[in-house]
Amino acid sequence: MKNKGIIIALSVVVAIIILGAVYTAFAINNRDISEAAKKPNPEEIQKNPTVNEVWGKYYPEHWQSYLKGKESDQKTKYGGNLRESKLEHFPYLRTLYAGLGYSEEFWEPRGHPYALEDINSVPGSRKKTGGACLTCKSPEVPALIEKYGDDFYRKPFNEMVKNVKYPIGCSDCHDPQTNDLRITRPALIKAFERQGKDITKASRQELRSLVCAQCHVTYYFKEGSKETTFPWDEGLKADQTFQYFEKRNLTEWVQPLVQTGLNKARHPDYELFVGSTHHSAGVACADCHMPYTKQGDSKISSHWWVSPLLNIEASCTKCHTQGADYLQKRVYQIQDEFKAVLDLASETNLKAVRTIEAALKTPGADQASIKRAQDHYRKAFWYFDWVSTANSMGFHNPQEATRFLAESIQYANEAIQAADQAMLKKQ
Ligand code: HEC
Ligand code: HEC
Ligand code: HEC
Ligand code: HEC
Repeated sequence: MKNKGIIIALSVVVAIIILGAVYTAFAINNRDISEAAKKPNPEEIQKNPTVNEVWGKYYPEHWQSYLKGKESDQKTKYGGNLRESKLEHFPYLRTLYAGLGYSEEFWEPRGHPYALEDINSVPGSRKKTGGACLTCKSPEVPALIEKYGDDFYRKPFNEMVKNVKYPIGCSDCHDPQTNDLRITRPALIKAFERQGKDITKASRQELRSLVCAQCHVTYYFKEGSKETTFPWDEGLKADQTFQYFEKRNLTEWVQPLVQTGLNKARHPDYELFVGSTHHSAGVACADCHMPYTKQGDSKISSHWWVSPLLNIEASCTKCHTQGADYLQKRVYQIQDEFKAVLDLASETNLKAVRTIEAALKTPGADQASIKRAQDHYRKAFWYFDWVSTANSMGFHNPQEATRFLAESIQYANEAIQAADQAMLKKQ
């Protein structure tokens, strides 16, 4: 009888110990970092907002996650974190980009911690635009823009780069005082203003994409001031940004083979994503690229910006009940289909270049027809480049990406016809 009492008492004690351990493990694993993050940041961060390592001292899990961006050895079918040459994968770009530094060197992106190292390794011929090239590479940039004004964009790259030490970091997206998400790049704030929109009114979910739209967008260096500018006044899309440049008669360089002024698109990731199935359903960049994941003993928003295919479980299955295998196959199917149309569009654009080149070399060719061919080609090239430089091989918005490729093929064909006519009509 007495023994039974002891056994029961012991069992209760053991049960309490086990429950306590389970609870502690649960509490650690689910420590709500966002609650902790609601407190003001420590003074050391507020005093050194651009020094990523200082933030790292107080947010060690986020820092470890950020440092994973230094990995550079994983490949998916069309993405991954390897720094590979785009010119090797897409040799036709050497011809389409003739006359631009991009025809000599053009890399796939890799992790944020590499941003400064990689821009520094680019040869001088690519950096004629000066300090402007640094706009999306370091958290020290907003203060430099304030200090130097337009000179920041105009001064030689080699002079301005001496002022920056840290690659893309915490204060690019977080307020050093409150830790709230914030927008630091004037180009995005101004692009919103010109459309009559106030970016400070953006919701939290919008900010989870807009912080990326500070850099993952197409831009150009404004006439005169050379200020980094988003050509969004007519709208975000390929046809609307084309109109923006046409209306203002702006071109970035004269392509020597077709002898007409063209503009170079730069990774319009945000622009393409807007209006996609996911965007329309309220999904943000951070939902797929910064999923809630375990880091050390805590759960945090992943700060390892990389292909979501390297961690489909975390990135997709929060919303999709299908397994990782199925989702991976779906993504590859979408990308393969997009790639097939991309290949057709590149071939047609290449043929347009060669035909215009031949017309230009033909003595007595009809100049009005050549001019028409060049006008069609300008459009064909912008639509093609806009879509092909956007990351994700079409996945972010397959329908729209394919539509603009189809239009590019149409305009390239019209350019070919007009150039053929120019040669037929020669005196
Ligand atoms: C629905 C999920 C999803 C959303 C939302 C999303 N992406 Fe992606 N993203 C992907 C997938 C899938 C890929 C393709 C990765 C691959 O091919 O390995 C990708 C690729 C990329 C890449 C290239 C990565 C690489 O390895 O080549 C970048 C950069 C990128 N996305 C940025 C963004 C930005 C910026 C936004 C918001 C404007 C965004 N993504 C929104 C799923 C998403
Ligand atoms: C490219 C933008 C970006 C950069 C750079 C960035 N973060 Fe974040 N961070 C985010 C986003 C987006 C969230 C999610 C916020 C939300 O959903 O409200 C987040 C959330 C957080 C949170 C809140 C807890 C959580 O995990 O959701 C902390 C703390 C944090 N980040 C710390 C850091 C630190 C430290 C650095 C630098 C090493 C950093 N962040 C760099 C975009 C960024
Ligand atoms: C301050 C500018 C800046 C901001 C803000 C920014 N990025 Fe990037 N991102 C870059 C640059 C520059 C690179 C390429 C770095 C390199 O290759 O050296 C890059 C690369 C990437 C890659 C490719 C990584 C790889 O391993 O291939 C992904 C994915 C990505 N960013 C997603 C995002 C997402 C999602 C956000 C928003 C939460 C974001 N970025 C915010 C500038 C930025
Ligand atoms: C935050 C939630 C969320 C996340 C994260 C998410 N998705 Fe989705 N996804 C959706 C919603 C919502 C839809 C639209 C469903 C519908 O219309 O029925 C969708 C649709 C899709 C579709 C169909 C697209 C179409 O045009 O019909 C595919 C494919 C897809 N998702 C793949 C992915 C992959 C791969 C990932 C991870 C990289 C991912 N999703 C991450 C919510 C999400």
